Amino acid sequence: MNTVKSVRELRAAVARARGEGKRIAFVPTMGNLHSGHAALVTKAAQRADFVVASIFVNPLQFGAGEDLDTYPRTLAADQERLLQAGCHLLFAPTVDEMYPDGTTVQTRVSVPQLSEGLCGASRPGHFEGVATVVSKLFNMVQPDLAVFGEKDYQQLAVIRAMVRDLNMPIQIIGEPTVRADDGLALSSRNGYLSPEQRAVAPALYRELSQMADSIRHGQRDFAALIVAAQAQLLAAGFRPDYLEVRHALTLRPAMIDDRDVVVIAAAYLGNTRLIDNLYLHLDDASA
Ligand code: PAF
Repeated sequence: MNTVKSVRELRAAVARARGEGKRIAFVPTMGNLHSGHAALVTKAAQRADFVVASIFVNPLQFGAGEDLDTYPRTLAADQERLLQAGCHLLFAPTVDEMYPDGTTVQTRVSVPQLSEGLCGASRPGHFEGVATVVSKLFNMVQPDLAVFGEKDYQQLAVIRAMVRDLNMPIQIIGEPTVRADDGLALSSRNGYLSPEQRAVAPALYRELSQMADSIRHGQRDFAALIVAAQAQLLAAGFRPDYLEVRHALTLRPAMIDDRDVVVIAAAYLGNTRLIDNLYLHLDDASA
């Protein structure tokens, strides 16, 4: 696996692979990789002949007071993990390489509505930062397909909308969330948790699972489910940011006859913000 730092080298390496008739897959990341990222690369390797990953901690998607400066940079371990998972080329640019004129004058890509609620409400500008860097990376790599984790459910919805609305010829593939044995969704930010917080953290998934079970069994008083689960999270030591039942595609609040819904949450343990979600397809028996 080669690691390149410049757009020029990236384009040359991808052009060589294209010249050999290879189908190109892309997995963008911010590094500090775990098994969830490895699953994205494995999926990419199953669907294409040449897998490009990127590691770039994107300043544009961090708000003031967020963890941009402390976000773990673990390049050597990440390279090893990417290699094991079947990655062929790693693009690891500097901030200057990505934003040579600085971030202030950088053209932005924004996806209205989908970006606004949920994580977008507590992280203003976050999804604009994500959509902007992902479109730049897409233009640099020009992959046939790209793989994203379903753990970042709203991000995946925003990217799907961006690709559709801007006619980008890239297939977007969502990969199911990888969980620890106790149910906690793997996340680079789990490393911030103290041992005590790590022991409490799986309660987020447990609450979402219980809500999902109730909905599968016919409960449609979403507001009551939310209030009960929030109380449980508070009692466990979380500070809930949001906990919602939403329409799975549009992310508007779910209605009682919706068939595709997502139970979605963000909650703080100390300063660490955890997110998780469960998608539910309701058949006639449960609706
Ligand atoms: O999901 C992430 O790690 C980031 O938001 C992404 C998609 C790599 C863009 O910086």
